[in-house]
Amino acid sequence: AGPCDIYASGGTPCVAAHSTTRALYDAFSGSLYQVQRDSDSATTDIRPLSAGGVANAASQDSFCSGTTCLISIIYDQSGRGNHLTKAPPGGAASGTDPNGFDNLAAADAAPVTLNGQRAYGVFVAPGTGYRNNRPNGIATGDAAEGMYAVMDGTHFNGGCCFDYGNAETNSLDTGNGHMEAIYFGTGTGFGTGAGSGPWVLADLENGLFTSPNTSGVNPNNPTITSRFVTAVVKGQPGNQWAVRGGNGASGSLSTFYSGVRPNNGYNPMKKEGAIILGIGGDNSNWSQGTFYEGVMTTGYPSDATENSVQSNIVNARYAATGLVSGPGITVGSHVSLRATTSCCTTRYIAHTGATVNTQVVSASDSNALKLSASWNVVSGLANSACVSFESRDTPGSFIRHSNFQLRIDPNDNSKLFHEDATWCYRAGINGQGNTIRSFNYPAHYMRHFNALVYASANGGPNTFDTKTSFNDDVSFVVSTAFA
Ligand code: AHR
Ligand code: AHR
Repeated sequence: AGPCDIYASGGTPCVAAHSTTRALYDAFSGSLYQVQRDSDSATTDIRPLSAGGVANAASQDSFCSGTTCLISIIYDQSGRGNHLTKAPPGGAASGTDPNGFDNLAAADAAPVTLNGQRAYGVFVAPGTGYRNNRPNGIATGDAAEGMYAVMDGTHFNGGCCFDYGNAETNSLDTGNGHMEAIYFGTGTGFGTGAGSGPWVLADLENGLFTSPNTSGVNPNNPTITSRFVTAVVKGQPGNQWAVRGGNGASGSLSTFYSGVRPNNGYNPMKKEGAIILGIGGDNSNWSQGTFYEGVMTTGYPSDATENSVQSNIVNARYAATGLVSGPGITVGSHVSLRATTSCCTTRYIAHTGATVNTQVVSASDSNALKLSASWNVVSGLANSACVSFESRDTPGSFIRHSNFQLRIDPNDNSKLFHEDATWCYRAGINGQGNTIRSFNYPAHYMRHFNALVYASANGGPNTFDTKTSFNDDVSFVVSTAFA
């Protein structure tokens, strides 16, 4: 049985079921999600390999080969049509897509295996968000509901709000108790779990809670350290709600809190029933995280039902897999990176001061120029599955993006710097060399444009995001360093 079969037999059926990795009902063989490719804006639906099975990642790979793809729809498997699409602008923030919509997730940025079969999660970078403001059958008012999500326990930040669950139907903050959603991250200000986080908390609007207290520490809510996390939130009339969680790859769920609501406007609840993923109720879109699967139920699931769902998740055998492919860019080597666009095949990624640019370099040039176009490949500062590029002439400074332009800056050892300076590669999408993507914004690729270098989104909002010559501009031949 799938998670939603288990909820149904517990008397609390799914009214929304979202996953890009697998079917959540034994009998489900419909579309899991839709991807859109940037080359021609065509879309295709990705289905399970068989009823109840893992997503057909190979069908995505072939559809997206030679270009980049985004996840454009996450379908609802419950039959209620509660699909998630690009979130519209809200009271707190707009996105950078047309009309203020949020960004879509890169389709291949969160690879995993389930029982050894490759699948892709939803990698939410800051600015990315999904929503359904016209839901069907999601709890409203004080009605009972439950929900779970499986997330990447190592992908988070403190920005508001990496959520999955129930929110306002107008993308505005309409007051305390108008949301009931899972939150995962290190957001503070309303009480936290133990340690420094990340934690599973409940976003009840104007507060991320793990107890009725609006400040202080709930020692029963641990810092999550596992690669996969199962997060559970539920609420029902009579002033009752709970937060639960566990390792998404082994073991059982623990109850982090179960009891009464915060007393300042959260009882009774005023849920509105919209569905959000990766954003706050008011479209606060500064958070990051990765979502693999999740559901919302009608009725308050029993702990026993949720424990069976957790067993099902563990049996799905989520496991991490590599983030790089194509020609190797070997840690410990010294490299130069040559452009392949026809304008520029003698230009290499170099720097002048802090500015990363492209310059025409050859073996007969000065050692200083050659060094400026030479990079030490080191283990990725944020994730050893990828790499970082340290300047050969400015040791301790690394290629990083800032406002999506590339610079070299000294490593300040912050989480943000480490992420901005981590790059994951694959075979060049024009067939030459490597294409190199940002670790924390994987829909952004290292791209040369007018002799500068950017972290560019294919067809994104900036002039340096133009689709024109994108494939060539993001493909670099990597060779032994000039110096
Ligand atoms: O409750 C935390 C956040 O506060 C909500 O997600 C958002 O709507 C508001 O800004
Ligand atoms: O380049 C995008 C973001 O811009 C970086 O993550 C951050 O350092 C800066 O605000």
